[in-house]
Amino acid sequence: MLAREPQEENVADQAKAELKFNDKSLELPVVVGTEGERGIDIGKLRAQTGMVSLDPAYMNTASTKSAITFLDGERGILRYRGIPIEELAEKSTFVEVAYLLIYGHLPSKQELSKFSEALTRHSMLHEDMKRFYDGYPGTAHPMAILSAMVLSLSSFYPQALDVKNHEEQEATIARLVSKMRTIAAFSYKKSIGQPFVYPRNNLSYCANFLNMMFSVPAEPYDLDEEIVKVLNLLLILHADHEQNCSTSTVRQVGSSQANLFASVAAGICALWGPLHGGANEEVLSMLEAIRADGGGPKKFVELAKTKDSGFRLMGFGHRVYKNYDPRAKIIKVAADKVMKKMKQPDPLLDIAKTLEEAALNDSYFVERKLYPNVDFYSGIIYRALGIPTNMFTVMFAIGRTPGWIAHWKEMTEDPTTKIFRPRQIYTGSALTHYVPLDQRA
Ligand code: SDX
Repeated sequence: MLAREPQEENVADQAKAELKFNDKSLELPVVVGTEGERGIDIGKLRAQTGMVSLDPAYMNTASTKSAITFLDGERGILRYRGIPIEELAEKSTFVEVAYLLIYGHLPSKQELSKFSEALTRHSMLHEDMKRFYDGYPGTAHPMAILSAMVLSLSSFYPQALDVKNHEEQEATIARLVSKMRTIAAFSYKKSIGQPFVYPRNNLSYCANFLNMMFSVPAEPYDLDEEIVKVLNLLLILHADHEQNCSTSTVRQVGSSQANLFASVAAGICALWGPLHGGANEEVLSMLEAIRADGGGPKKFVELAKTKDSGFRLMGFGHRVYKNYDPRAKIIKVAADKVMKKMKQPDPLLDIAKTLEEAALNDSYFVERKLYPNVDFYSGIIYRALGIPTNMFTVMFAIGRTPGWIAHWKEMTEDPTTKIFRPRQIYTGSALTHYVPLDQRA
């Protein structure tokens, strides 16, 4: 494929940006991305000026170049390796999308079969790891278990620590993508006191997960192909999202040459936060609260606008999307389809839609460009699939695993990668000295 020539208007940018400070002026290179986005390269700023840039929460900072995912928040565009999310959602499977993100191209028939076979081969946990669950209380949050178990994989597969060994990393990647399902399903079975169900080699990725989650030894479990399809869709939509909080965490930890299991275990912890992947769990609690209150969503929209209320419309707003999250659009349509299949449609979907309409007609949300994000409707579907609320963020993690791996791999294989070590502006005490205890106030 021909590399895209930067559009005409960007050629000028390829000259320089100019920084002036006191009587000094510094020219800085401008980097132009595939879609014309531009970045000022400040790699030499401190060496040439003695100054650093300050950008809390990296609101204006690109931490890296990357070829994996493209987001345009203003236009609501999301592409994995250049392919629009809408096409992948309609035509692909999670295993194929995982391969695309990790290896950079849609797999051939042979590549897909080899990758699927590897996922099948690596789905079981070491029996000693299964015993870890005996130590957890039944009330343990499954995200805590997931992070701990993923980290523990590095004890059972120490070859993962050889991060520069391509062969070993191929096996490590397959183990991680595959075992995320098993760890998650086992934590659910532990929480409900049912026997663990082992993976089955004759089932596809998502079917295998559903079987481990919901089948019991006492009777056959009938897999609903529609449900398998919906789960594939949800995992595809969660698979990557460029430099989000948890992916940046994986890159940060991996930049010290920590192994993939340790880096992803850290990413799982970052995803757990209610401002990030934990929001899907919070959305359900919010919708339940609106239902219990009976007063309709308006009251909650007003509450979300009240600064000191501490309440936010969970599942709304996004650091990058200042338009409707393209994933939320797709999930909303899927939620309608799933509801049609259910004998008892979930009233929370209607509450969610009313809440969305109220918010999108309110100037507070319109001015701040706050739209539903990926977490707003996903929980409705997970609930319909029988997945408990405290497992929603685990589902997000299973979906995001290929993205985390792809970014870790891209960084690890980049010979220019250096350990992430940001600077700071110190605002503490000037020089002071130790005061012996008997002389302190
Ligand atoms: C994910 O980065 C990614 O790509 C993440 C993700 C991925 O795929 O990896 O897309 C997944 O994490 C989605 C986001 C899930 N989180 C939530 O749904 C939690 C609720 N939303 C937020 O708290 C918030 O919108 C964030 C955290 C998502 C983004 O926050 P920012 O960019 O730091 O913006 P902000 O908190 O500074 O908000 C800007 C303004 C503020 O008002 P003012 O100070 O300007 O008056 O908007 C308000 C905020 O109070 N605001 C909200 C709001 N979100 C922002 N007000 C009410 N309800 C909300 N949900």
